[in-house]
Amino acid sequence: MVTVGIIGAGRIGKVHVESICTKVADAKVKTLADPFMNDATAQWAKNMGVENITKDYKEILADPEIDAVLICSSTDTHSAISVEAIKAGKHVFCEKPIDHDVSKIKEVVRALEGSNVKYQVGFNRRFDHNFEAVQRAAAEGKVGDIHLIKITSRDPEPPSAEYVKVSGGMFLDMTIHDFDMVRFLAGCDAEEVYTQAAVLVDPAIGEAGDVDTAVITVKMENGAIAVIDNSRKAVYGYDQRAEVFGSKGMAATGNDTASAMVLSNGEGVTGEKPLHFFLERYMDAYAKEIKCFIEAIEKDTETPLGVMDGLKPVLMGLAAKKSMEEHRPVKISEIE
Ligand SMILES: NC(=O)c1ccc[n+]([C@@H]2O[C@H](COP(=O)([O-])OP(=O)(O)OC[C@H]3O[C@@H](n4cnc5c(N)ncnc54)[C@H](O)[C@@H]3O)[C@@H](O)[C@H]2O)c1
Repeated sequence: MVTVGIIGAGRIGKVHVESICTKVADAKVKTLADPFMNDATAQWAKNMGVENITKDYKEILADPEIDAVLICSSTDTHSAISVEAIKAGKHVFCEKPIDHDVSKIKEVVRALEGSNVKYQVGFNRRFDHNFEAVQRAAAEGKVGDIHLIKITSRDPEPPSAEYVKVSGGMFLDMTIHDFDMVRFLAGCDAEEVYTQAAVLVDPAIGEAGDVDTAVITVKMENGAIAVIDNSRKAVYGYDQRAEVFGSKGMAATGNDTASAMVLSNGEGVTGEKPLHFFLERYMDAYAKEIKCFIEAIEKDTETPLGVMDGLKPVLMGLAAKKSMEEHRPVKISEIE
């Protein structure tokens, strides 16, 4: 049994509390920490089976009974808490992104050197049943040499302007998942990125200094070309699709829906909208990524997504931003 402390009791912290308490047999949550913990969240966590509630995450780091921490606090705390947790000898699962600043991610890399700590980054989409199947087909050579990768990733509703201001921008907050997916599906790293982006959904996002619509082309090290299209607002729901096309064929996946029912009548032929957002679409993936993390601790094996898998999509995000600002293709080596 692995004893866990969770730092941050916001949207994603609660997802992981619920996963561990209801779906991960080999782990238990001893403590949940959040400086803004309110009574309702504390009561909810107690009902889930969490033993201790605290406002200070350092209690978790100082607790000798806790083997591992999940860092689910705001992004600007991830790298510093990662380093503290590694130094305290705790295994770390860190939500994406580790940091917006490459030098701070490198401090985490250095802290891990020579330690026995397991480190995993929260790119949950790799554990989605649809994307796993596409990746497996591509990795087994079923599409032959990979030529093209297409990712569609559109949110059902835009975030608030307040969120946008602290998010690090769309490329580091949202597209970062797609950069990870491109690496996952291609089985290699990116070489160069080119971005076209605009504010077409909400002028407030533009006023906050960000974009809400983008197409990013990525040249991969194996020669494949990837295209990512992003929107902060798809009126029909969370649109998450992927395609890998190659010399022998294509592996593709559509959206998950509540049912596969298609209604055909005099008005037309209609089906279900995609599952609304990440909490609906990826609950199983969130549980699976934590199961893999716990298994790596128990079996003393590598985690499926280490600290370098956390760094590389950040490099791609920074390259995408630079490409947009300078209207030119940007090599990843320029960012490194
Ligand atoms: N993998 C995913 O699909 C996914 C989805 C959502 C969010 N995230 C990431 O998770 C992180 C949190 O996002 P969220 O949507 O849950 O945000 P949120 O604002 O709902 O929650 C963040 C929580 O962290 C708490 N916090 C801040 N500083 C803290 C500290 N020092 N110690 C403990 N708690 C602290 C805040 O009080 C807040 O309750 C972000 O980095 C985000 O990028 C990942």
